[in-house]
Amino acid sequence: MLKTSDILDEKNKLLRKVSEDVTFPMTQEDLDTIDLMLEYLTNSQIEALAEKYDLRPGMGMAAIQLGIPKRYLTIVHEVEEGKFDNYVIVNPKIVSTSQEKIYVEDGEGCLSVNRDVCGIVPRFARITVEGYDTSGHKISIRAREELAIAFQHEIDHLNGILFIDYIDKNNPYKDQEKYRAI
Ligand code: NI
Repeated sequence: MLKTSDILDEKNKLLRKVSEDVTFPMTQEDLDTIDLMLEYLTNSQIEALAEKYDLRPGMGMAAIQLGIPKRYLTIVHEVEEGKFDNYVIVNPKIVSTSQEKIYVEDGEGCLSVNRDVCGIVPRFARITVEGYDTSGHKISIRAREELAIAFQHEIDHLNGILFIDYIDKNNPYKDQEKYRAI
């Protein structure tokens, strides 16, 4: 089981590394890591378990956050109370985006950023992501709203980008009127 302390902190330079494409078949180690990531993300969003195991809540995790510079990520999206959709994508690419951009009104969060950061991170409201499942089959995922933000946030991790990079420290709500708050 993963612990919160297994997740790299923003100060760790590895988080700035551009992750490498994964080749198939994936290693058993990577497959096991994916299971651990999904388990962490699910448990972390169930209050009683988050408390029991001292987990910081999060809906997405990229491999590099565990120090593994490979292009895969996981998202556990709570669609209704206690009901979760799991997403695993390998070598993901955003292939289309909406015109419209949105941002998380309360501020985006990240398991690697252990502090509240306010400010606007503009994200596409709707995206299509293509990539591969763990067996190497091509997949395509359409995501909107919160889920679309999660994919953009996690794909950024694969490129060494953190959400805080987008925020203008001197003017964190810059151009707010251009985007829709969610
Ligand atoms: Ni993150």
